[in-house]
Amino acid sequence: MKVLPFVFSLFSITLAESFCNTPSEHTGDSIFVDKNLKSNVGPVDFELWANGGNNNATFYTDGSFSCGFKNTTDYLCRSGIQIVPDQYPSDIGHIKAEFKVEKVNFENVQYSYIGVYGWTLGSKVNKVFEYYIVDDVLVPIPSDFANEKIGDFMIDGAEYTVYRNTNGGLTQYFSVRKVTRSCGTIDVTAHFEQWEKIGFQKSTISEVKVLGEIGNDVGGVNGALNFPHAKVYIDGKVAQSKAYVPPTTPVEEPVEEPKKTITKIVKCKAKKN
Ligand SMILES: *[C@@H]1O[C@H](CO)[C@@H](O)[C@H](O)[C@H]1NC(C)=O
Ligand SMILES: *[C@@H]1O[C@H](CO)[C@@H](O)[C@H](O)[C@H]1NC(C)=O
Repeated sequence: MKVLPFVFSLFSITLAESFCNTPSEHTGDSIFVDKNLKSNVGPVDFELWANGGNNNATFYTDGSFSCGFKNTTDYLCRSGIQIVPDQYPSDIGHIKAEFKVEKVNFENVQYSYIGVYGWTLGSKVNKVFEYYIVDDVLVPIPSDFANEKIGDFMIDGAEYTVYRNTNGGLTQYFSVRKVTRSCGTIDVTAHFEQWEKIGFQKSTISEVKVLGEIGNDVGGVNGALNFPHAKVYIDGKVAQSKAYVPPTTPVEEPVEEPKKTITKIVKCKAKKN
């Protein structure tokens, strides 16, 4: 019976976000990118997009990534999955994302969003929108950053302020965590459910990615962010890029049976003259 408390404590360690309490390192193969690029590295879909500057990012097959930016105006590095074809979040399964960020250095940052990000793209049914779940920032978000503050909501055990911003034809949905954190698990599905309750237009999504975005309307942003842990899960399983072709385990060549020679017996009737 003395064993019991020990068993329970082990159990709670397993349930807690263990990646937040242990050092994380990039593992697996990686790709270094120094221009705008949307692609995949093994099972991980990624994108580097920036407006101006000398930028880079390294994306790893374990989902982790690191981001460097110099004299940029708007810079986004992100890692996760594309949803091909785009689907309603509720049809995809239960979506969660784990992230851990290290703010290596930064200067001249006017705005920043760290968390989960995605788009609808090319959907025939709904217009394009961007969604953000912001769990961390480099600098406080200005209160007037979006043109509609919807309200505060408890989402997955924490308080978030939800905003909608319309910018020309583009609509952006934001959940901004009141108490920021640099590591954790974001229940993406819970945010979509809350947004739907508020009456945000239900729409199909084309991506779910862990995001680091920094910017300044007048440019000149420098710095680096490191995400030693980033993973997107669907129904408890690490989501995989549709573009990923898993290595096939070598199959033993079947021993070739000696070919049977079919001897056609042609009966020749001697021509009788
Ligand atoms: C990536 O960008 C950062 C920030 O400008 C820079 O410090 C770093 O040297 C760059 N990495 C490579 C490999 O070019
Ligand atoms: C930074 O970028 C601006 C253009 O956005 C350019 O005019 C300026 O020369 C750049 N500065 C440096 C130090 O590269």
